[in-house]
Amino acid sequence: MPKRPVMSQIPALGAIDRTQGHLGKQLVDALRDAISKGHLAVGERLPSTRTLAETLGLSRGTVSDAFEQLIAEGCLEARTGSGTQVAAALHDLMPHVLPSSMTKPTSPIPIPESAQRYAAVLNKLNPLPSAPFAIAVPEGEVAMDEHWRKLSNRIRGSQSAALTGYSDPSGLLSLRESIAEYLRKSRAVLCKPENIVITEGAQQGLYLASKVLLSNGDSVLAEDPAYPGLISILEDLNVQLHRIPVDDQGFNVAKAIEVSANAKAVFVTPSHQYPIGMPLSMSRRLTLVEWARKYNSWIVEDDYDSELRYAGYPFPSMQGLDSERVIYLGTFSKVLAPSLRLGYMVVPDSLVASFIGARALMGRGSPSTEQHVIAAYMSEGYFDAHIRRIRSVYGERREVLIGALEKEAPELKVQPADQGMHIVAWLPEGIDDIQIAEAARLAGIAVRAISPMCSANLKLSGLMMGFGGFSQDQLKAAARKLKKVLKQFNNAA
Ligand SMILES: Cc1ncc(COP(=O)(O)O)c(C=O)c1O
Repeated sequence: MPKRPVMSQIPALGAIDRTQGHLGKQLVDALRDAISKGHLAVGERLPSTRTLAETLGLSRGTVSDAFEQLIAEGCLEARTGSGTQVAAALHDLMPHVLPSSMTKPTSPIPIPESAQRYAAVLNKLNPLPSAPFAIAVPEGEVAMDEHWRKLSNRIRGSQSAALTGYSDPSGLLSLRESIAEYLRKSRAVLCKPENIVITEGAQQGLYLASKVLLSNGDSVLAEDPAYPGLISILEDLNVQLHRIPVDDQGFNVAKAIEVSANAKAVFVTPSHQYPIGMPLSMSRRLTLVEWARKYNSWIVEDDYDSELRYAGYPFPSMQGLDSERVIYLGTFSKVLAPSLRLGYMVVPDSLVASFIGARALMGRGSPSTEQHVIAAYMSEGYFDAHIRRIRSVYGERREVLIGALEKEAPELKVQPADQGMHIVAWLPEGIDDIQIAEAARLAGIAVRAISPMCSANLKLSGLMMGFGGFSQDQLKAAARKLKKVLKQFNNAA
């Protein structure tokens, strides 16, 4: 007959805390823990319910219920005449159920190659801490206003069934209607609400476009430098990626066609090249569209921050040149907040079903409550007013930052550009941007180095600096800190 352990051999029981409540659950957890750690061996008999109840000061019913629970889980078994014991069936499994702290592997567990690639991506996409000059931190004057708060409360309080069920994977119709109208007016985009698919932001739009448009072995074109979130997606696919340098007119279209005329798709940021900032010239836009028509290729236009142009009106979209060849991506991250995780794509008629299918596969659609809020914010006129307001605040902050850098760090060469939420400042030759970014981090400022956004063939050294989310005083103070950081490197050079 299996022996009964004495209570002191089950240390997990000592962890039961009568002041914390849920005593039955605590007992179940403690016994399960004792079994998994081997304090109660397979086949070992448990103390009787009466003994356990008396010793622990619990009711006998609580102990019986705990035993029943563990019997149902298959951890214990009751045998007539021999009480309750640890289930024999656990015998072969015990080494596997031991908590990992007791079974430390002697060598690292090999993980799939794809898992290693995703881990490497994390380093590139981790957000910067919320300190100047991080990008997209809409606080204070540029945060969503009182109207947003009121609409949010109204909609959240309405308890409408539309907020609780599964919704259309392409997104809420009223939001798609508002976006279509906004894009037609402000971005010269040619679209109907049916062409719009709501996404979790432009990042997801890039991912969906790559999944829908590209197959194994396809050739694909992208800018150099480019948004790391895009390059990581393309590098993860089994495609031939060609990086094409940008110059003062943006993406070098002639070079791209020379390198890979039969590319299936090209990913570009025509309004505001990421990260450098120049727009793609009209002649290059027209050549690119002509190429796409001729070779049956697709243009993915990432229009991530074009609303924020400070000199004149935003540039019209490329999509307006050919709505059947261009997949247009927009986002609410820059003009409202990245935390919303909402954006949109405008897709050609021929691809509507494909993109909605892919969107359904990738998460069944976006949360509907925030979609209702944005739809109301747009249709009631607050969105346009918000953009006008932030454009003016950002425009001032941008001027302040450029002025502060000219004063504190004249060795930096600020790239001429007139839109977006960041500037690019080039470092003097021989100074490594990654080292500066790290030293800046230690000094409490957040900048991104440009070199990791370039292909191995391109050697650029500069800093990407956001100005949107910080007051003029914060920007000036951070520029003074940056001066000190740069000084360490200038002295060392
Ligand atoms: C060029 C570019 N594309 C896409 C994104 C993704 O934006 P989100 O997914 O927040 O809309 C970003 C974010 O910074 C970006 O800079």
